[in-house]
Amino acid sequence: MINNHDRVVIRGLRDVAAAETQISFVDPMGILYYLGYNIDDLVEHVCYEEVVYLLLHSKLPNKNELDDFRAQLISEMKLPEAIITCIKSTPPSSHPMEVLRTAVSYLSMYDSDRDYKSEQANKRRAIRLVAKVPAIVATLHRLRTDQLLVAPNEEFSFPENFLYLFRGIPADSEEKDAIDRFMTLHADHGFNASTFAARVTASTNSDMYSAVTSAIGTLKGPLHGGASEKVMYMLDDINTEAEVEDYIQGMLDDQKRIMGFGHRIYQAEDPRTKHLREIAENLCHHTNSLSLYNLCIRIENVVHEKKKIFPNVDFYAAVTLNALGVPFEFFTPFFASSRISGWTAHIIEQYEDAVLLRPSSKYVGEYGRPFVPIEKR
Ligand code: CMC
Repeated sequence: MINNHDRVVIRGLRDVAAAETQISFVDPMGILYYLGYNIDDLVEHVCYEEVVYLLLHSKLPNKNELDDFRAQLISEMKLPEAIITCIKSTPPSSHPMEVLRTAVSYLSMYDSDRDYKSEQANKRRAIRLVAKVPAIVATLHRLRTDQLLVAPNEEFSFPENFLYLFRGIPADSEEKDAIDRFMTLHADHGFNASTFAARVTASTNSDMYSAVTSAIGTLKGPLHGGASEKVMYMLDDINTEAEVEDYIQGMLDDQKRIMGFGHRIYQAEDPRTKHLREIAENLCHHTNSLSLYNLCIRIENVVHEKKKIFPNVDFYAAVTLNALGVPFEFFTPFFASSRISGWTAHIIEQYEDAVLLRPSSKYVGEYGRPFVPIEKR
């Protein structure tokens, strides 16, 4: 045991490897792997359901396995009536991430085999969560906008069903491709803060719903998944490309962070950015909003010139979701609806590792303060 004085604090746990994982690797040089597959290959050649299967089973499914898995996911999108009532009872002023955090926590009490902790039971639970998190997000949006709830369509893919439940209209081919890729690109990302939070909770042998609730609360922060919503507020604030330079300089002069830029691990561009940039460009063409896309390119160039940092996943994800008609406050819930696949895979891996994640700290407070009774303070 190292004594307090000699402990070395690694501020922000930068470069600390907290555990081993086989699920994903974030290479600082700008490459991302899921179970050894380069994300560039996955996003081009497989669908989101295959990615979820890969994360939970460590292998890609064959055709029959994929068909069964997709059917299972779609049938699990149905929410217990009590969850719908819980969503209805939330104040209209609450943020969708607050509702999602609460609804997932509530869901735990409606898990039919909540007392079973085997790997099989946890995989069943993971599939339930992967399906129900997007269903909760879509249900909340429908209820908040006084629209009827929509039942999933078995003919549609899982991501397509997510958009369908959310918007109530089937996606066109461009949108289907966009939501599928969006979900694939957001599925997992090493020991990011929300995944780490999920693993810490799981490491105490707490249940999967508690771990996912921790993760949702962590993703919500603007330094993590909450950044995408803030990106859109920034884009709304800048009217023309001519204003970009002054706007960004003003932010930097005020020591403010440019949302959707910078990354703890990547020294090169985030490998997800090029795909999301392309998706955003296609959708902006499609929706006649190329001026927004051009504004983003200008911001990217100016921020790089001034700070030498690149856009991260959240920058073009915001433009993509906006073009899909998703309201700003639902951007982070869409991120959560995809990352749930990575969270559950990591929670299961953490159960297998069976070690308590419990760091120490270096005490820098006082010692031996004289005690004063309350009546004398
Ligand atoms: N805007 C302005 N400057 C920045 C930014 C930014 N977005 N990001 C990093 N920097 C600067 C920072 O000021 C520092 O500069 P200097 O050396 O001159 O003081 C340098 O880059 C290193 O920054 P850091 O604070 O050491 O980086 P970090 O690893 O602690 O923070 C981060 C990473 C993601 C929290 C940060 O880049 C940030 O706040 N970005 C904005 C929020 C955001 O987009 N978050 C999404 C993160 S990626 C996807 C996800 O997890 O959801």
